[in-house]
Amino acid sequence: MTQDELKAMVGRAALDHVVANEWVGVGTGSTVNHFIDALAGMKDRIRGAVSSSEASTARLAALGIPVADCNAVGEIAVYIDGADEIDPRGHMIKGGGAALTREKIVAAQSRRFVCIADASKRVEVLGRFPLPVEVIPMATQRIVRQFAALGGDTALRCVDGRPLVTDNGQHILDVRGLRIADPLAFESEVNQWPGVVTVGVFAHQKAQVCLLGTPDGVQTLDFGRG
Ligand code: 5RP
Repeated sequence: MTQDELKAMVGRAALDHVVANEWVGVGTGSTVNHFIDALAGMKDRIRGAVSSSEASTARLAALGIPVADCNAVGEIAVYIDGADEIDPRGHMIKGGGAALTREKIVAAQSRRFVCIADASKRVEVLGRFPLPVEVIPMATQRIVRQFAALGGDTALRCVDGRPLVTDNGQHILDVRGLRIADPLAFESEVNQWPGVVTVGVFAHQKAQVCLLGTPDGVQTLDFGRG
C-alpha cells in the first residue's frame, strides 16, 4: 500500500469517532483531507465542523459541511488531526502544514484528540522531524540563538524564496537536531520564550487515541488521558 492509501484508510476510519449531533474539530494536512472527504458522507448527522486552517475551511465548505468559529461553539466533542510524529504516550510534533497554532487552539477546546497517521509517523522519541515553531518575525534571530543553545539548527520556512506567512500573519521556524525526551517540559519552556506564538510539540494537548495506518489495517493506539 502507498503512504497515501494508508492515510486514506485512517481518514475513513476516523468517522467512527465522530459524535452524532455534535461539533467536530478538523485539523489540517493530506491525511485530514481524506477525513474531510469521508465526513461529507455524514454531514447531515453532525452540527458542523470547527476548522484549524483556511485550507481545511475551504475544503469543508466546498463539500457543503458547515464551518463554525471557535468562539461560536462551546466544547467540541472530538478533534481529528494528523501528526508529523507521534511517540508511545501520544505526544506529537505537528505543524508540517504550518497550521499548528489554530490546531492547538481547536485541540484545547475539544474533549478528545484522535490522531490519524500512517505508520511512518510513529517514533520512540520526538525530534527526527524538524520541529515547527510559529514566531513573531521581530523575534526570529533571538529565538534562533535560543534553539542553538539547545543544540538545534534552525531554518526560516520559505515558499518561492520568501518567508511563508501563516494564516495568523506570522512566520515558521523549522528546528533540526533536537531530541525531545521530555515533551511536556520542553513545550512549557519554549512557550515562555518571548516571540514564540506556538511550539509544534503537542504534549499538553496530546492525542488520546491514534489510528495508525499499517499494511495490515488500522491499528488503534489508546493513550488514555494521563
Ligand atoms: C499541519 C499538521 C499535519 O497534521 C501534519 O503536518 C501531518 O500532515 P500530513 O497528514 O499531510 O502528513 O500538523 O500543520
